[in-house]
Amino acid sequence: MKRKKHNMRTTTLLTSLILLILTGGCCSGNSRTGGDNKWHSYSGNKQIERRVDSLLRLMTLEEKIGQMTQFSANWSITGPVMSDDFKPYLEKGLIGSIFNATSVEGIRRMQQIAVDSTRLGIPILFGQDVIHGYKTIFPIPLAEACSWDLELMRRTAEIAAVEAASDGINWTFAPMVDIGRDARWGRVMEGAGEDSYLGSKIAEARVIGFQGGPAGKALGELHTLLACGKHLAAYGAAEAGRDYNTAELSEHTLRNVYLPPYEAAAKAGVATFMASFNEINGVPATANRWLLDHLLRKEWGFKGFVVSDYTGINELVPHGVAEDEQHAAELAVHAGIDMDMTGATFIKYLQQSARQGKVSEQAIDNAARRILEMKFLLGLFDDPYRYLDEERAKRNTLTPAFLETARKAVASSVVLLKNEGALLPIPRDQAVTLALVGPLMNDSVNLNGEWAALGDRNKSVPILKGLTEKYEDHAVKLIYAAGSAISETNPQMITEAVAAARKADMVIAAVGEDFNWSGEAAVRTDIRLPEAQHQLLKALKETGKPIVLINLSGRPLDLSWEDANLDAILQAWFPGTQGGHGIADLIAGDCNPSARLVMSFPRNVGQIPIYYNRKNTGRPVDLSNEQIDYKSGYLDTSITPLYPFGYGLSYTTYEISNAHLDKSVMNAHDDQITVRAHVQNSGSRDGEMVVQLYVRDRVGSVTRPVKELKGFQKIFLKAGERKQVTFILRSEDLAFYGIDMQKKTEPGNFTLWVAQHSADNSNELNFSVK
Ligand code: NOJ
Repeated sequence: MKRKKHNMRTTTLLTSLILLILTGGCCSGNSRTGGDNKWHSYSGNKQIERRVDSLLRLMTLEEKIGQMTQFSANWSITGPVMSDDFKPYLEKGLIGSIFNATSVEGIRRMQQIAVDSTRLGIPILFGQDVIHGYKTIFPIPLAEACSWDLELMRRTAEIAAVEAASDGINWTFAPMVDIGRDARWGRVMEGAGEDSYLGSKIAEARVIGFQGGPAGKALGELHTLLACGKHLAAYGAAEAGRDYNTAELSEHTLRNVYLPPYEAAAKAGVATFMASFNEINGVPATANRWLLDHLLRKEWGFKGFVVSDYTGINELVPHGVAEDEQHAAELAVHAGIDMDMTGATFIKYLQQSARQGKVSEQAIDNAARRILEMKFLLGLFDDPYRYLDEERAKRNTLTPAFLETARKAVASSVVLLKNEGALLPIPRDQAVTLALVGPLMNDSVNLNGEWAALGDRNKSVPILKGLTEKYEDHAVKLIYAAGSAISETNPQMITEAVAAARKADMVIAAVGEDFNWSGEAAVRTDIRLPEAQHQLLKALKETGKPIVLINLSGRPLDLSWEDANLDAILQAWFPGTQGGHGIADLIAGDCNPSARLVMSFPRNVGQIPIYYNRKNTGRPVDLSNEQIDYKSGYLDTSITPLYPFGYGLSYTTYEISNAHLDKSVMNAHDDQITVRAHVQNSGSRDGEMVVQLYVRDRVGSVTRPVKELKGFQKIFLKAGERKQVTFILRSEDLAFYGIDMQKKTEPGNFTLWVAQHSADNSNELNFSVK
């Protein structure tokens, strides 16, 4: 009843405002023209454009700058609240967006203040880091990427949007599309790995998933969120993997390697972008006009709005490009930042800067327009409470269908790295005793990984529970002993685990990282398992029992010792809410592993950065003999990774044969080659395989990678089944930024592989472009 009354009051206030906006006639669009500062709306919806312009006419300069201001909600025992510092801004209508304000009730309270108590009653846009699920937590994005299943990734983003939007959230700060070539950097867990082509496809799938369809056309439907491509740009190129660190890279590398996934997000219609914390070649992204204006808006045609990262504007001062925060705010607006995340620099200084002529009102108008447009698009002006409905939130949370998808996502994301003697799977009717050990075997808290939004860490299914339910009342018997904590050695616990192993036929050890060791500001220089866990594994090895390792981590680890000493390895990442069930499905053989790595696993941390699409150098190591005399190699290890990009085993085997092309010469423009090959499931189980197409451009105007992924297909094959796969390789797929920094396909000779992973050279073909 109370709510209803409130809504009516709001409607009255808003109706008069909206009537004014719709009938104003004050919006003929003159203010939108300003030379090259012209505002191009995201939606292209003329009615929305008129409403935005009408509203803008009513706003003071300070109110416009208020729209460009975002704060983070704090928490009290009863839920999210505004901190005392920010509340006065909210009450004066000087906040455009709030993030971290979760729960329908908490959001309603804040929206009420904005709508009912301020001069113009402009609703707030509520944001949140909905990265890999909201309450139903899916495997971390890096893990999901290993599924190479674009439809799955679209769907999990869609479910995350349904849950979050039902809780009143309108905007997610995802997808993170930064290329990650450095496993020390903890944020690789949020991305899609090291490859630009795959990363671009995944960026597109996730944007479409969050926004309910392509080009933002479904925005405004109640199950959608505005997405945010982040972090523009090259955040993953941070030197030495140190978070927030400098990215120093050529424009070729930037354009050919790092930028494609952001561009793909823009093309998919992402509504917003977030500028990255790092500098690129001396200019912090937050102050980088070339990046945010020339490239993003002019070259890519992006028409949504750009938010800074958390205090990214203030950080222009320690970066050493701004004298003080006012200067920082001016640089950021000039570069193309529309909204200040938590830094309060715009609201504190921009009015003064405008008065001093250091910032044009046109720039402020355009930023405010872009933000207001999104609020209109979401329908917040028509009903600021339309996303707030407790019943809908309950109905759309952790549903059986969502949990089922989460469970499938786990089984599709876990990579089988080793399976000596076909130790896995262990079917229910096999009369064996398994010793279940390891610090992460009976763990729930770590399973969700970092950035787990509102996922309940105590409710994720531990692996022990998954296996117990799977094998209950069957021939397989289980004994459990943790054996170790994540970091602390405990001799007594090791003794217990060894005793369990001696009583068993086989050991399954769940080991890995604490979830806090990856994500933001979580960088490691030693990426081996902690010594405590290593001691446990060594003691178990001495029992002589076969050992299956389940490794949970937010990054590729150095698993050289484990690879050399253990029998089977499952890379399970952080699998989320349904972790234990999905892993048990794989161990029991109810699902067949089909995931393939999207980041190379190094032999040791000294090989980093390591990625498959490296350059050849003038002194390449011959991989057939690894002679490194005056070659570009190491004295103490190979240049190859332990496990390459694209690699992953299954419980069956596959063969690729008879690869052939429909022609061996193609034109550089508007032409294509058809690549065909036979793919056979040569084993005795049904399974899904990722067929991968790689190309090498033998000579370029600038040096080219030794291989580049140009296509892939995930196909299902029954045991013994053979299928033909077909790839169309278009001349434009071979285009890159060459010596003149123009993107084009250069004539010359190419080699192509239809492969099972990036180091598989077996089906090699040649063609040329003229
Ligand atoms: C900083 C992170 O870099 C960014 O990814 C995130 O969206 C914001 N904080 C908000 O939490």
